[in-house]
Amino acid sequence: MAAGAGGLFMTPEPIAIGPLTPAQLDDACEVERLCFATPWGREALEAELGRSSMCCYVSATLPSGRTVGYAGMWVVGDEAHIGTLGVHPDYRRSGIGERLLVNLLLRAARRGVGRVTLEVRASNVAAMSLYGKYRFRALGVRRGYYRDNGEDAVLMALEELDTERYQAFIADRADALDCAPGGEDS
Ligand SMILES: CC(C)(COP(=O)(O)OP(=O)(O)OC[C@H]1O[C@@H](n2cnc3c(N)ncnc32)[C@H](O)[C@@H]1OP(=O)(O)O)[C@@H](O)C(=O)NCCC(=O)NCCS
Repeated sequence: MAAGAGGLFMTPEPIAIGPLTPAQLDDACEVERLCFATPWGREALEAELGRSSMCCYVSATLPSGRTVGYAGMWVVGDEAHIGTLGVHPDYRRSGIGERLLVNLLLRAARRGVGRVTLEVRASNVAAMSLYGKYRFRALGVRRGYYRDNGEDAVLMALEELDTERYQAFIADRADALDCAPGGEDS
């Protein structure tokens, strides 16, 4: 908390976006548990991190070292599939989900990806709005895709990641949000 001219206001904590590491798995599992009806367990996440050539996971970390969001994708050839994106409920609506997505898309672009797909629950207005902001379009519906409640999944795709126009757009967003990937190879 910091005092401003108009009174007290919250100073947003700086959040670091970077590769998800094994040391962050406990926090990532907690985020997973709080975000999803059928969360992945620690072993599944650990196995994902081990498959480094195909999988790419990024995290959002507070200065204290606590991880409050993470996202991941699989990359095969020039296609990527975003398998997960979640932000701890106490830290939502402060730009973390967007920064994770932008960072992930830039990493996909580095790997030569042109098309990115994902599935999202038909009721998930927040996530669909985020993906729409980054020009994902709904391609169709997978009926009864989610086993916990039989909900439909909307299949969304971003088809233009490898275009100059999109890369200029995403680079601008990364600058504005200060979330471009560093030089690490992931
Ligand atoms: C979806 C989710 C990752 C968004 O994370 P977040 O950090 O709260 O989102 P941000 O603050 O970065 O918001 C970015 C954009 O997302 C959309 N958005 C986020 N929360 C929203 C809400 N409650 N209602 C509508 N749009 C919302 C908006 O387009 C927003 O852009 P804006 O600020 O210009 O309006 C988060 O709500 C979450 O973890 N949900 C549970 C897990 C989940 O559903 N993951 C997606 C699986 S496909």
